[in-house]
Amino acid sequence: MAFQKQNYVTRMARKLVRRVRYLLSEDRRRRLNWSPQDRDLEQWSARRLNRIASFLPQNVSYLEVGVFRGETISNVKMPVRVGVDPEPRFSVVGLPNGVEIFASTSDHFFLSHKRAFCFDLIFLDGLHEAKQCYSDFVNVLKISSPDSVILIDDVLPDDDISSIPDQDDSLKERARTGQTGFRWHGDVWKVVVAISIAHADARIQIIHSPEMNPVDGDDNPQAAVWRKPGGVLDAEDSALGFQVIDELEGKPFSYGVERWPSLFKPVGEKDFLASLQGFFETKQPKP
Ligand SMILES: C[S@@+](CC[C@H](N)C(=O)[O-])C[C@H]1O[C@@H](n2cnc3c(N)ncnc32)[C@H](O)[C@@H]1O
Repeated sequence: MAFQKQNYVTRMARKLVRRVRYLLSEDRRRRLNWSPQDRDLEQWSARRLNRIASFLPQNVSYLEVGVFRGETISNVKMPVRVGVDPEPRFSVVGLPNGVEIFASTSDHFFLSHKRAFCFDLIFLDGLHEAKQCYSDFVNVLKISSPDSVILIDDVLPDDDISSIPDQDDSLKERARTGQTGFRWHGDVWKVVVAISIAHADARIQIIHSPEMNPVDGDDNPQAAVWRKPGGVLDAEDSALGFQVIDELEGKPFSYGVERWPSLFKPVGEKDFLASLQGFFETKQPKP
């Protein structure tokens, strides 16, 4: 108990230090270039999001949970873009028309904007914790349409160390085992399992396409979620989803891969986009 309390106090102290550093930093005053920069588009999430958007029957409104330095949201080419982040690392004044940044946690945003929006494309890239990410997913179901697509980051950790839920613990373990690097995904992989078990009408597919980045082959695996034809994704099913995450408490990523191998087998971006296109063509046959 005393250890847990000490652990909690340490985490809160670290959070406070990060917050003060952020408030004092130049970072948050940085102005972004809001015109898409093609070089970046070819490398990162914005490329994938823009390609997905091009297949959507309606591609007007975009939500990004966790915007960080704004590299993705500023390169997504949709007219209405909303970002949510308690600490956006760029200036949120003087934004272009159609862009709105809420400097708050996702929980607070969803609570205070229950019915104000309906998003066509959503990118979940906030806190790397399974329960928080799943909660964001469930909240998004309430403000999206049957044709919306949700892209979730950090679902395919590099290894078990990268899947340790606490970032500091993960980095310490990496150093202890003599490895270098700072890659940390947390336990967001559990959200893939929760969605596949709790939401029968969801289609979920992990996408990984190193070949799409000719610069250095580095590509970020992400999970796309959309509805089965005629299906309904219901926030009401979330009790089972949270239960699944609870049952996976303490389990490393390798456990998930062993138990659900097909769920964690990625497809290439081109194959994924072809199936997405097929889905929308079947739904809405062209005249
Ligand atoms: C990996 S970064 C996002 C990167 C960004 N999506 C991009 O593509 O450039 C994660 C961000 O999530 C934010 N974050 C942390 N907790 C959050 C929460 N509860 N709600 C929303 N965002 C959160 C962090 O402040 C951080 O900026």
